[in-house]
Order: sequence, then structure tokens, then C-alpha cells
Amino acid sequence: MKMLALTLIAGLLAPVALGAQLTRVPNYGSNAQSQAQMWVYVPDNVVADPPLVVVLHSCQSSAQAYFQNSAVPWRRGSDRKGYVTVWPSSPNPGTCWDVSSAQSLTRNGGGDSTAIAAMVRFALDEYGADPARVYVTGGSSGAMMANVLAAAYPDLIAAVSAYSGVAAGCFRGAGVAQWNNTCSGGRSVATPQAWGDVARAMYPGYDGARPNMQVWHGGADTTIAPQNYQEEIKQWTDVFGVSQEPTAVTQNFPQPGYVTSDFGDNVQGIFSQSVGHSVPANLTASELWFGL
Ligand SMILES: *[C@@H]1O[C@H](CO)[C@@H](O)[C@H](O)[C@H]1NC(C)=O
Ligand SMILES: *[C@@H]1O[C@H](CO)[C@@H](O)[C@H](O)[C@H]1NC(C)=O
Repeated sequence: MKMLALTLIAGLLAPVALGAQLTRVPNYGSNAQSQAQMWVYVPDNVVADPPLVVVLHSCQSSAQAYFQNSAVPWRRGSDRKGYVTVWPSSPNPGTCWDVSSAQSLTRNGGGDSTAIAAMVRFALDEYGADPARVYVTGGSSGAMMANVLAAAYPDLIAAVSAYSGVAAGCFRGAGVAQWNNTCSGGRSVATPQAWGDVARAMYPGYDGARPNMQVWHGGADTTIAPQNYQEEIKQWTDVFGVSQEPTAVTQNFPQPGYVTSDFGDNVQGIFSQSVGHSVPANLTASELWFGL
């Protein structure tokens, strides 16, 4: 009887006592000019030395909206596998990420990319996350920022899974968070070497490890033209010093209507002719790429 009563009380209290939530971290130790906000989700079943996934929202969104969006699967992944997710929130009007200004396209330049790097360092410290297992994902503007972070902070990131973005530096322009029609329209076309140089210039002289890059794009994307997929592939194959000819092409993988192209072990492209903007995230496929 006593047991039953205790069980009942525990049952009533459980929803209050448990239940991890998306939480704002007001002071994450950034000295960037960018006022980007840091939000974090530490699941109840967080593992020891947890991996860390940075989830970057699209324009017209925010950390909270993206976290609550049922099409964004990373909260589920975090709950299932016990890794920590960091949800940066853009400070810019329209909430696109700044992937245009010199500040953001330069390591430690003080822009949004610098703020997000500070969030990663804070999370490694505060939640004891594993520095060798930091991953970045995002859709649209978030995917553009994932590319920028890969170029400017390659030492912090093990792998990227970017949905419907552009090559790092493709949106460069005169100010903060500028839209770039030339790039979005698929008219920023350059050689692999030129794109590789753009990425390398964001952290000059760096010759350490670089994040493995998985890039997704839809062939029916009318917001970020599909040509940007080719430009991302050119950029990262050049950075890794591998051929632009795929080493393997797999039809209908990871799902029907998608084609996966591997360029060695470090660069993978996933393209679907019929999908528009933006490609829905496939949690399983991104987690596999991350080794989660
Ligand atoms: C847009 O980006 C391209 C590089 O992709 C750059 O050459 C061009 O100057 C940018 N356009 C504007 C208006 O800043
Ligand atoms: C996601 O990718 C996995 C393979 O990594 C595949 O089994 C699954 O069917 C895909 N999900 C969807 C919704 O197609």
C-alpha cells in the first residue's frame, strides 16, 4: 500500500521533476560584436562526454522556433542518443545568418561565426562535451553558416551536414547578413581552386584537420539555385585535395529519388532532382555521417 502511494506520488511528480528544456545561456563568454543568442538542450539522459551538435536555423526562424519545428529532428536525436544540442539564434533583421560581411567570413572577425564558435567553446567547457565530436548542421541560411564555420573554425568541428546552402564565401557582400542574388541565383561559378582559396582565406595558414562535409540540395530549389550544390562540392573537394569526379555514386540512397555521390571519405553530396527548398533533414543519414 505504501509502495503504491509512493509510486503514485512519483508518477505525479515525474513530469515536473523531469523534462529537459531548451534553455537560454545569457553569457557564453563571447567577445564578438555579434549579439547572437545561445540556446542549449541537454537531454535528461545525457551521456558522459557527450557529443555536441550545433543546429543552425534558417531565415525567418529562431532557436526556439526551430527547436519546436517538428520537421527539425535534432531534439528527437538528442533525446534518443543523449548528445547535447546548441541552438544559436540570429540577431539580424529577418534572422538570416551573417554569411556576407568580412567580420563573419574571417576567423575571430567578431561576426556571427565568431559568436557561434564561442558557443561551442562554452558548451565544451560547461557540459563536458567531447571536443573531438562537435558537429554542425543547418538548413538554408543555417547551411550557409555551417559552410562558413567549416572554413573559419575547422579546428573546432569534426563534421558538417548542410541542407540547401551555398559554398563558404558565396554570399559575400558589403554588409552584415546581406542577401546575394548572384550567388542565390546560381551565378557565382568558380573553379575548385578559386573556391578552395576562398575557404582557406578565412583561416590563413591553417593546415590541420578539417571537418568532413556532407552537402544536400534539391534540383527544384528556386530559392538557392541547385548550381550551388556543384560549387560547394568544388570547394570542399579542393580543400581536401581530391578529384571532382566521385569515387562512388549510389542511386536512390539514402532514400528513393536521392543520389549520393562520395568524393573519397571526407566529402559527400546528396542531391534530389525533384526536391525544392529546402531539403528536409534526414536525422538518420546526418547522424551516420557524424558517426552518432
Ligand atoms: C555576391 O557574391 C559574389 C561571390 O559569390 C560576389 O562576387 C559579388 O560581389 C556579391 N554581390 C554583391 C552585390 O555584393
Ligand atoms: C534517411 O536515411 C536513412 C539511411 O541513412 C534511410 O534508411 C531512411 O529511409 C531515410 N529517411 C527517409 C525519411 O527517407
